[in-house]
Amino acid sequence: MNRVRYLGDVGYLADGNMSMKDISNSVRKRRMVGTIPPVYPNGWFGLIEAHRLKKGTSINISALGLNLAVFRDEEGEAHIVDAYCPHMGANLAAGGRVKGKCIECPFHGWKFRGDTGECIDIPYADKIPSQAKVKAWPTMELNNWIYIWHHAEDIQPSWLLPEIDEITSGEWTYRGRSEHFVNCHIEEIPENGADVQHLSQVHGPIMTAGIDLRYMWSKLWSFANHEWRARWEANEPPEGHIGTLFLSHSIKVFGKRIPPIDLDLEVRQIGPGVVYLKFESVFGKGMYMQSLTPVEPMVQKIVHNIYVQRRMPTIIAKFYLYAEAIQVERDIMIWNNKKYEGKPVFVKSKEDGLIARHRRWYSQFYSEHSPRLTFQKDTMDW
Ligand code: FES
Ligand SMILES: [Fe+2]
Repeated sequence: MNRVRYLGDVGYLADGNMSMKDISNSVRKRRMVGTIPPVYPNGWFGLIEAHRLKKGTSINISALGLNLAVFRDEEGEAHIVDAYCPHMGANLAAGGRVKGKCIECPFHGWKFRGDTGECIDIPYADKIPSQAKVKAWPTMELNNWIYIWHHAEDIQPSWLLPEIDEITSGEWTYRGRSEHFVNCHIEEIPENGADVQHLSQVHGPIMTAGIDLRYMWSKLWSFANHEWRARWEANEPPEGHIGTLFLSHSIKVFGKRIPPIDLDLEVRQIGPGVVYLKFESVFGKGMYMQSLTPVEPMVQKIVHNIYVQRRMPTIIAKFYLYAEAIQVERDIMIWNNKKYEGKPVFVKSKEDGLIARHRRWYSQFYSEHSPRLTFQKDTMDW
């Protein structure tokens, strides 16, 4: 299963005169008000699923305000370097060939090492200038993803992503992916995890009620609903970069719970860009893996992969992935149309208190030089 929804595909209010694409552009313009946190937090971010990068090939990826050449060398190791060649600015991933541990620029053949970014060969010169270097980014290949470490102060990784043994060992098997583009500030998406009060509102109506928040309350589907119980907490050091949401889910039909379809979930938000969501059901165990990466200051890419125990019927695993995608697409309708509220009007309650706590927790991923977006309300043109 591979469900892909681009920006403008879901979550906008098309009105017959304007397409969802036009609306997505106009929302981007008119919503640009107020102060928002920096747009590219510090941490690990997934760039591409590892199996999609073949040995000896490169791919050009734009993310986090960077233009990157991601390549797998001839020994199988993955590297991430700045895409532009320091010689004349050609894009290394647009026709550059992978040779040994290096990528060779397609323009004049300069060769750069993937691990250090150093130029080690210029075909027509003996002396290599010391500035002949591309930036090589800290790279981690894990759980079938290639992750980049992005830090505005240029410091080396201060924490790592945990390996999922069940995936490495092959005990759990891959059953598909979904991919969504969302028009909002990156922090909105993890914040959803601590926002336990939105669960019954946005994720209450059953799946068949659809993804359009305007119509999902129809009487037709009111005989059943999702019920969620949730608790969020920040982990203790040295896991301070992790926040955990404990979630139990059941479906009620005519007010009665159906225990066999209960689902218990442990959702670990690991830094700003990665979520490992383990679940347990009567059909077996498994996990959703979420990768969240900013492709533009206010455009985020979310990929979900699902892995399950081999004994779980494939159709069930695909259903779980589909069910998750439906719930995400409802959130997308909120995210695409809202603004980041820097000064929310909170009430004194456990629920709103959690969101405030999440914001304090999340602020650890911003630092002095984190890139900010300043809005020019009237002149902005996409
Ligand atoms: S631009 Fe890359 S070698 Fe000339
Ligand atoms: Fe949500």
